[in-house]
Amino acid sequence: MFRDKFIVVGITGSIAAYKGAELVSYLKKRGARVQCIMTKAAREFITPLTLRTLSQNPVITNMFSEPEHWNVEHIGLAEAADLFMIVPATANLIGKVCSGIADDFLTTTIMATRAPVLIAPAMNVNMYLNPITQDNIAKLKKQGYNFVDPEYGDLACGTKGQGRLAELEVLVSEAEKLLVKDKLLLGKKVLVTAGPTREALDPVRYLTNRSSGKMGYAIAKQAYLLGADVTLISGPTEIKKFPGIELIKVETAREMYEAVFSKGENCQVIIKAAAVADYRPKKESAAKIKKQSVDLNIELTRNPDILAELGKNKGKKILVGFAAETENMLDYALEKVHNKNLDFIVANDVTREGAGFGEDTNIVTIIFPNGTKKELGKLDKVDVAKEILKEVVSELVQRKLDIE
Ligand code: CTP
Repeated sequence: MFRDKFIVVGITGSIAAYKGAELVSYLKKRGARVQCIMTKAAREFITPLTLRTLSQNPVITNMFSEPEHWNVEHIGLAEAADLFMIVPATANLIGKVCSGIADDFLTTTIMATRAPVLIAPAMNVNMYLNPITQDNIAKLKKQGYNFVDPEYGDLACGTKGQGRLAELEVLVSEAEKLLVKDKLLLGKKVLVTAGPTREALDPVRYLTNRSSGKMGYAIAKQAYLLGADVTLISGPTEIKKFPGIELIKVETAREMYEAVFSKGENCQVIIKAAAVADYRPKKESAAKIKKQSVDLNIELTRNPDILAELGKNKGKKILVGFAAETENMLDYALEKVHNKNLDFIVANDVTREGAGFGEDTNIVTIIFPNGTKKELGKLDKVDVAKEILKEVVSELVQRKLDIE
């Protein structure tokens, strides 16, 4: 999300300034171009050298020093930025921006930019809750400025209350939302399934598969960033969901079936990235199965095929399946498109390097009911998710699918 984005990070005079440095490091590691601006007070807490090293860019501290890049540097910077992040933002900075005061490089640049501005306040609880600060924040929000609310907890002044800078994870997820400008799925309800299912044999053992859930979680996140209202139904995984997504955790295929049918009714799009177990042990032993001297046979019984059931009554829904194959990928996948009544399927040969379960990349082919196909090379799963959603958007546009 941050690759090649130009992000201006403004740092003001708060003890949380070092967390601004953490943010700069995070953005830089993910490929963003970062320009830091420090106020005079910020320089009392951390040094420009820290930020210069982390951003690999000279830090702007002075309104009237010789320009590095543009004739009128604050205007050039304001125009070039994809996003402004003020982390941390003091009550003073918020008050100045709200009152139209532009008396240093940071405030003039904020005033001049048309890029989205994300402000993350950090201050003493009484300063934060002071009606002056609250009125200023409300007024700025009305004018289109974005805020990440501070969190409740121990404050540097020795008290407890709301005023701690939001966690890095929250800051970057809010930034990601602002960086996706075209909310092509706004107003659409999207249901995504992810991960494996687990089918219990006894209280200590289960059958499962190698799915990590990475693909499904990436799709859910990208759909959310495109403005969709997203429900993610997930089998057991270690992955954290993106804030704002509704997460329903399930374990077995039958639990996934129940969740999909109770949540899928009002969705315009269902994407089934989960690797659902086709079989479960016919009998789940209430006690641990003890070893014997002879071989043990486990009888398996069929689980419902959730996607095929959805396909029977899909109405106007867009239904997308996945096919993880080890041979005859194209034939098997096309068969699944027809048998399950899908709009398209995302097929991958899991034996190929860079395409298996648990990898960060995938090599997929998107196959449509008429047999046409779109081969994507080896891509990061985030980019595969974006490509899949591009197809979903194009299906929605073709059908002029209205929100019911
Ligand atoms: N699927 C499902 N319910 C099942 C099995 C699969 O909803 N019980 C969905 C998967 O989420 C996936 C698609 O069907 O989107 C294809 O899954 P896959 O396991 O590749 O195919 P199967 O239909 O199970 O066929 P096979 O295992 O024989 O390849």
